[in-house]
Amino acid sequence: MNYNKKTVKDVDVAGKKVLLRCDFNVPQDKKTGAITSDKRIVAALPTIRYLLNHGAAVIACSHLGKPAATFETYVKKQVEKGKNQADITREDWEKSLKKLTLAPVAKRLSELLGQEVIFATDVVGADAQAKAAALQPGQILLLENTRFEKGETKNDPALAKAMADMAELYVSDAFGAVHRAHASTAGVAAYLPAVSGLLIEKELRVLGGAISDPKRPLVAILGGSKVSSKIGVINNLLDIADTIIIGGGMAYTFAAAQGGSVGNSLLEKDWESYALDMVEKAKAKGVKLLLPVDTVAADNYAPDANTQIVPTRAIPDGWEGLDIGPETTAAYCAAVADAGTVIWNGPMGVFEFPTFAKGTEAVAEALSKTGAITIIGGGDSAAAVEQLGYADKMTHISTGGGASLEFLEGKELPGVACLLDQ
Ligand code: 3PG
Repeated sequence: MNYNKKTVKDVDVAGKKVLLRCDFNVPQDKKTGAITSDKRIVAALPTIRYLLNHGAAVIACSHLGKPAATFETYVKKQVEKGKNQADITREDWEKSLKKLTLAPVAKRLSELLGQEVIFATDVVGADAQAKAAALQPGQILLLENTRFEKGETKNDPALAKAMADMAELYVSDAFGAVHRAHASTAGVAAYLPAVSGLLIEKELRVLGGAISDPKRPLVAILGGSKVSSKIGVINNLLDIADTIIIGGGMAYTFAAAQGGSVGNSLLEKDWESYALDMVEKAKAKGVKLLLPVDTVAADNYAPDANTQIVPTRAIPDGWEGLDIGPETTAAYCAAVADAGTVIWNGPMGVFEFPTFAKGTEAVAEALSKTGAITIIGGGDSAAAVEQLGYADKMTHISTGGGASLEFLEGKELPGVACLLDQ
C-alpha cells in the first residue's frame, strides 16, 4: 500500500471550506462524562491551526464511542447484554446518546485553540447545513457525533455525499480511525479531493519508516493478553524485524504449545498450532524470537496475590503467570539496548497491578535509555508508557490503537487508501 499521500501542505486551502475528520474519541469519566484525557484533541491542533491560519473555514467531525444510531439497534444491543426487551425505553436510548455528544469536546477544543468553536447539534441536518453555509475563513465548526447517523458505520454513500456537499476539500487527520471504512473516514473521499492532515502524515512517516526502511536491528516487542489478536502482526513482522520479543498473557500459549505446563495462566488452546507455526517460521527466516524463560506467577488474579518466580514452562497448578520474570526482563532489556529501532505494542504483564508491572516498567525504562528510534503502538502500551512517566522519552507514541496494529499487520487502511497519492 502506498503511504506517500498528499497533505494539507500540497493543496491550496485559502478561502475553502474544509471537512476535517479528527479522532476525538476521547476517554470519558463513566459517571460525569468529563473528558479524562485530551491527548487526542491536542494531537489534532497542528492541523486545525494550519488550516485556520491559511484561511480555511474548518468543518470538523469525529465519532465518539459506539452509540446505537437507531432505537432498534439500541434495543438489540441491550437485549444482547441480558436486558428484558419490555423494560427498554426510548428515553433510555436518548439518554445513552446524550452521554456521547461531542459538545464537551467543542468546549475543550475552544479552550485549547483560544477561539470559539461553533457546535452543530446534528451531522448533516438543518443545524449543520446552516452553520456550515455561514462559516467564514478562520472559523471552526464541530459537527455532532458522526455515529449518531446510521449511515456512518455502514459507509452509506448518501451520508458521505451529504457531508461532502458542505465542503470543498476533505482532510483526514483521524489516524485512530483510519482502519474503519466509514462514511466520514473513507466514503467522503469519493466526492471531494482528499488529503491527509499533519498527524496522519507524521504517523505514516514514522510507522512507515520503521517498517519499510528501519535502522537495524529492528526489534519488535509484542505483548498483551491474546495471541489471536497479535498473530497478524507477528506474521507480518517475521518478514521485517530482526528480533521479535513476546511478553504478556500471550506468551503462555507459546509455552503450552512447546509442551510446557502453564497452570491457570491465560491460554488460547485453539491458537497453539499458530504459535508453533510462528516459532518454526522465525527459525526458517533467521528472526530471533525471544520468549519468556521465567515468570512471576501468582496464586490469584489480584494485586495482593502471593507470588513466586518460576520457569515459564513449569508454572505449578493453581498458579498463573502475570508478569515476565527477572531473567527474561534482563534479556529483553539487553535486546532493546542494542536495537536500532524498537516497535512496542502490548504490555509485558498485568501492569495495572504494581506487583506485576515490573517487567513492563523495566522494558519502558530500557526504551527510554536506548539510542534506538522508539515507537509505541497506541492503546495499552501507550497508556503504560504514560502512566510510568516515560512518554517524553519516546521517539513516537501512536495515537491509534487498532489502527497502528492493523498498520503493523500490513493491512490496507481504508482511511489512508482513499487519500490522494503524492
Ligand atoms: C480508537 O479509539 O481506537 C478509535 O477512535 C477507533 O474507535 P472504534 O474502535 O470505536 O472504531
